[in-house]
Amino acid sequence: MAPARSERAYAQRVRGLGTTIFAEMSDLARRTGAINLGQGFPDADGPPEIVEAAVEAMRTGHNQYAPGPGVPALRAAIAAHQARHYGIGLDPDAEVVVTTGATEAVAAALLGLVDPGDEVVVLEPYYDSYVAGIQMAGGVRRPVTLRAPDFRLDVDALRAAITPRTRLVLLNSPHNPTGTVLTHDELAAVAEVAVEHDLVVVTDEVYEHLTYDGVEHVPIATLPGMAERTVTISSAGKTFSFTGWKVGWATGPAELVGAVLAAKQYLTFTSGAPLQPAVAMALGLPDAVLVDLRVDLQRRRDVLCDGLASLGLAVFVPAGTYFATTDISPLGYADGTAFCLDLPVRAGVVAIPHQVFYDDAAAGRALVRWAFCKRDDVLAEALDRLGRAFG
Ligand SMILES: Cc1ncc(COP(=O)(O)O)c(C=O)c1O
Repeated sequence: MAPARSERAYAQRVRGLGTTIFAEMSDLARRTGAINLGQGFPDADGPPEIVEAAVEAMRTGHNQYAPGPGVPALRAAIAAHQARHYGIGLDPDAEVVVTTGATEAVAAALLGLVDPGDEVVVLEPYYDSYVAGIQMAGGVRRPVTLRAPDFRLDVDALRAAITPRTRLVLLNSPHNPTGTVLTHDELAAVAEVAVEHDLVVVTDEVYEHLTYDGVEHVPIATLPGMAERTVTISSAGKTFSFTGWKVGWATGPAELVGAVLAAKQYLTFTSGAPLQPAVAMALGLPDAVLVDLRVDLQRRRDVLCDGLASLGLAVFVPAGTYFATTDISPLGYADGTAFCLDLPVRAGVVAIPHQVFYDDAAAGRALVRWAFCKRDDVLAEALDRLGRAFG
């Protein structure tokens, strides 16, 4: 997206990054009164007992700096979560670091592990903070494209992207914006490449609990040879519907987590002291809490996907995340950005064009992402408005 102002004063490491598309489209939604199916935040909070735990923590004096790596109770809860769900054993004192959301974990991993000129292989369409993080670290991105209609990993393209300068593979599964959940075979192919070329893998798994139709998320750290070379990132924001809390974490072998912490300590040092004990409590809640959220989101996914399909759009039903993707060409548009800029005016709805998440913009030109983590009445109103505009 075009930068809002001149970038003459900008250092190279931030030049050309512009304004994040999510801020831009959320601002457009606010200015036009459109329904925001752009940014991926739920419009209902997560379980009230988690809020109560945060309030209690504030009332009982957890209001000063937390330890840099995170409060011990949360680090222990994160380690216990990885053991309970995936059988991953972690030392909470050396192999877990709490961050300001997954965003900081990704940035700190890139700053802590990538030297200028190192190449980073990344799936595209990519979450936009990856581009910024790679650039700020002085790295060079080497995208591997997930292509419509099935958005699967092309293992030959992955192999072709590896060079002697490759340092790191940055994965994201469940994948934003396509909704792809990488299969065991796809992850095994990534693992083979990583072991063969002695690469570090940084994997963003913020949607780990948001998978549908019985599809299970597999952390790549559980594959042979991977625990020792993988930094796994997640966040309470998506799992418990508290995106504004920005409590995330990175886990992995002490040396890699140490590199993340080395950068993280001078970005924020620490944040969210009273929120951290509340997230520790949340991670210990019965699995039913996660199952309820997943079932409810799957239902809303189906409402949105069925509604968009009934408008004549080609819908790619996601196996995970908050997002559905459509090809908008049946509505007479060739370009998703033009469509998304028209949409608030024509229909009173905001969505996100895929093409801003690609180096190969042509691969995403006609694709648009819609968030379904919204209340039933909001989804119904959005579909109603779209029906009136395009039906
Ligand atoms: C793939 C991905 N990673 C990271 C984030 C940001 O996570 P957090 O809010 O915990 O920083 C998001 C949010 O949309 C995301 O989609």
